[in-house]
Amino acid sequence: MEHSHGVDAESRSHPAGILVSDEDRQRAQQIRSVVRECGVHPIDSPVPAFDDARDRPSAALVFLSGEAPDATSLGLIQRLAREHVPVLAYGENADCWSLGARCRALLAGACAVLDSSAPGFAGELGAKVAHVLAIEAEHRRQKEHVRTTFERLGIVGVSQAMIGIFHQTLRISALSDLHTLITGETGTGKQLLAEAIHGLDAKRRDGPFVALNCGAISAGLAESELFGHRRGAFTGADRDRRGLIRAAEGGVLFLDEVGELDLALQTKLLRVLQEGRVLTVGDDREVPVSVRVVAATNRPLEDMVRERTFRADLFHRLNVLSIHIPPLRERLDDIEALVWHFLQKNAALGSRRAALVSPEFVAALAEHELPGNARQVENLVRRAIVHKDDEGPLALADLPPEIWARVSERSAADQAAPPGGLSDAATPDAAYLSRVLVMNDWNLSRALASCERSLVETALRAASGNQSQTARLLGITPRSVYNKIRKHRLAASEP
Ligand SMILES: Nc1ncnc2c1ncn2[C@@H]1O[C@H](COP(=O)(O)OP(=O)(O)OP(=O)(O)O)[C@@H](O)[C@H]1O
Ligand SMILES: [Mg+2]
Repeated sequence: MEHSHGVDAESRSHPAGILVSDEDRQRAQQIRSVVRECGVHPIDSPVPAFDDARDRPSAALVFLSGEAPDATSLGLIQRLAREHVPVLAYGENADCWSLGARCRALLAGACAVLDSSAPGFAGELGAKVAHVLAIEAEHRRQKEHVRTTFERLGIVGVSQAMIGIFHQTLRISALSDLHTLITGETGTGKQLLAEAIHGLDAKRRDGPFVALNCGAISAGLAESELFGHRRGAFTGADRDRRGLIRAAEGGVLFLDEVGELDLALQTKLLRVLQEGRVLTVGDDREVPVSVRVVAATNRPLEDMVRERTFRADLFHRLNVLSIHIPPLRERLDDIEALVWHFLQKNAALGSRRAALVSPEFVAALAEHELPGNARQVENLVRRAIVHKDDEGPLALADLPPEIWARVSERSAADQAAPPGGLSDAATPDAAYLSRVLVMNDWNLSRALASCERSLVETALRAASGNQSQTARLLGITPRSVYNKIRKHRLAASEP
């Protein structure tokens, strides 16, 4: 592809600089020259805002003052580590610090604590920086390889979340005999990912990919559709039918909207998954089949299991390997890459060739909630291409008026709301609440859920991930904290 996705293309071509955080001018000078000797340019603090992946330094060198590392520097290390920036910490006489003091720096996320007053400090720092840069370069190379592998399969993504999914998919696709569950909201690319698993599975990629939308067939027809029937098995069965499971022999059976499958069929399907055998309707002997089932759902199957509308044993069979694709609003970095991808994919729709995208087009989409996820982005790009009557880049004016309305509403709400979001410590004000409601399509239960998510996340952070402490802070049981972490898919560390 000749275009640049912006986000990653930049950081791919040359390493970003190394952040140096040290208030002592002379020592900072020395550190900067070590950095330059490693072939990288030093960046002085203040630390960039990280709003954009391009602002992320390749590594950071942070001075820790005093016998015990100070809270400000530890906070900085934590923030950098959260952004996946490797941090090397150093301090005067650090080799003589207590073990506890050095552990605090490592706990905050530093990869090493060096002693800046030791005689070989510059050499040691240079070697460590070179090592960190080599690892970073290898990561970048791997990330790029994975990204292009998936781009070839028609899946684009540059966010940490999608790169993580790509790695997970590569691992999962090699496990050809295990079934897989893909979860995610509508339009997040579940079917696309199922096809990728098939394409990457060396044992099955030459076999068929057979898809069935479980929500689109009637319960009466579903059994013979899936399991096949013998001629005469029921009225109207005037010839033998193999059924989709056997049609997928040697390949992948994709069960879309698996939550819609009725309970009787779930039982029969479980048998296929457990025994690798299928019983055709009207037959008295099972026949062996070798299929990998990849199921997808946008419904919470765990809840359905609790409500007994989905079999627990089938759920566990499918869930052995599972991939969750987060909604686009949680991976805004992907919007730009998707827009470029859909522009190229749908270029033939337009009478005039729009080859570029303006940043405001991408920014407006990022402001919108996009409940239809990537599918909605594709529809909006298509619409823009079709309506375009000049050759300029896709621009704000090429988006539909409801998006302009949403963006203007949100910016009005942002202006009215104070920066922290809350007017005083206890009571959220009207502008903040209206922003939460607008963000959630004025849907009360979604708005409450999004408030709950923020509150639990804040409490978890305050308790450094300790769930029992979070429970005490929130006045709920540790079990409820655990459930809420799962419900909102928050990253949690065990107490
Ligand atoms: N990461 C992506 N890269 C490129 N195209 C994508 C991506 N995600 C989704 N799409 C495109 O968006 C559309 C919807 O994707 P898909 O049908 O796989 O979603 P889904 O999760 O199965 O949705 P549903 O739950 O509604 O069935 C398709 O045209 C697909 O090609
Ligand atoms: Mg689908």
